Parts: sequence; structure tokens; C-alpha cells
Amino acid sequence: MTSAWKPLECLLTQCPGKTMISKPMEQALLTQLNREFSSAYIYLAMSAYCSHLEFNGAASWFKLQYEEEHLHATRIYNYLVEQGVHVVLGEVACPPSDFGNLLDVFNAALTHEQSMTSLLNDLSDHALKEKDHATYNLLQWFVNEQVEEEATLGGIISKLKLVKDDGYGLLMIDNELGARQTATTAA
Ligand code: FEO
Repeated sequence: MTSAWKPLECLLTQCPGKTMISKPMEQALLTQLNREFSSAYIYLAMSAYCSHLEFNGAASWFKLQYEEEHLHATRIYNYLVEQGVHVVLGEVACPPSDFGNLLDVFNAALTHEQSMTSLLNDLSDHALKEKDHATYNLLQWFVNEQVEEEATLGGIISKLKLVKDDGYGLLMIDNELGARQTATTAA
């Protein structure tokens, strides 16, 4: 074997810890992976809270949102593994247990997603700065997803603001939320 092959061979198979993305990008994606799990946990807490308020449609909606965030985390996890990263998982922060009324819950969800959008935009900037186009492509999927998530939450919030405390209106919205079938964002 010529020595010219050794660095490539080493890069791909023989050097545990040698990854195809930079260390700072690896760290940033591991942090984002944790944020996705944290989002899942927050949505499960929101689902539990809505069940507690007996808004079972909203509880089901947030449970699907929890599953969706798990899919997001898995997407990043799979990418990191493909890139040769040893994924070391961190602690997931404890979510709140009380979110106020139904409108407050959805407002909290929207605020959360807006902060995720900002963080994902920063991550995309980071990838571009490093000319890491593979990671940039992965992140664009997330950036597009954020547009959909924020629009969906904004639509639900508008309806909740319209009905205010009207019991019949809240019941109708709860029924509508309960019709969501899959772990992709849709009201
Ligand atoms: Fe993982 Fe709600 O975006």
C-alpha cells in the first residue's frame, strides 16, 4: 500500500473521533440535537397540561407535536452518526408544568418555535461560514420546517383570540385540533 492512501483510510475507518465535520459544527449540532429533544419534552408537558384542562383535542395535537420533535432529533442524530460523530447525549431540561389558559399554551409554543428559528438561522450562518454545504442542506430542511410550524401555530392562536373565553368556540377549536392525524405540522 502506498503512503498516499493512508490519510484517507485513516479518515474513514481507522481514527475513532475523526469526523467529516468540524469540531465546532459537531458541538453546535449536538446542542441542536439536545434542543430538539428538549422541544419534544416541552410539547409532551403541554400535552399533559391540556389533558389536565380536559382539552383532549389540544392534548392530542401536542402529543403529535412531541412525536414530530422526536423525528427532528432523530434526523440530526442520524446525520451526526453518518458524519462519524460519537454522539454523546446530554441532559434534557425539565419543562414547566403550568402554561395558563389554552391561548397561553399556544402562545408559549409559538414563542418557543420563534426562538428555535433564530437558533437554526444562526446555525445555518455557521455552516455557510465554514463552507459546510452538507450541514447547510440539512439545516435548510429545518429552516423550512420552522416556517410551517410558526404559520400553523399562528393560525391556531388567531382562532383562539377570536373565541376568547367562549366555551362553545373553545370546544370547536379543541375538536379541530383533535383531528390532526400525523406528526407533521397541521392543525
Ligand atoms: Fe424541531 Fe419545532 O422544530
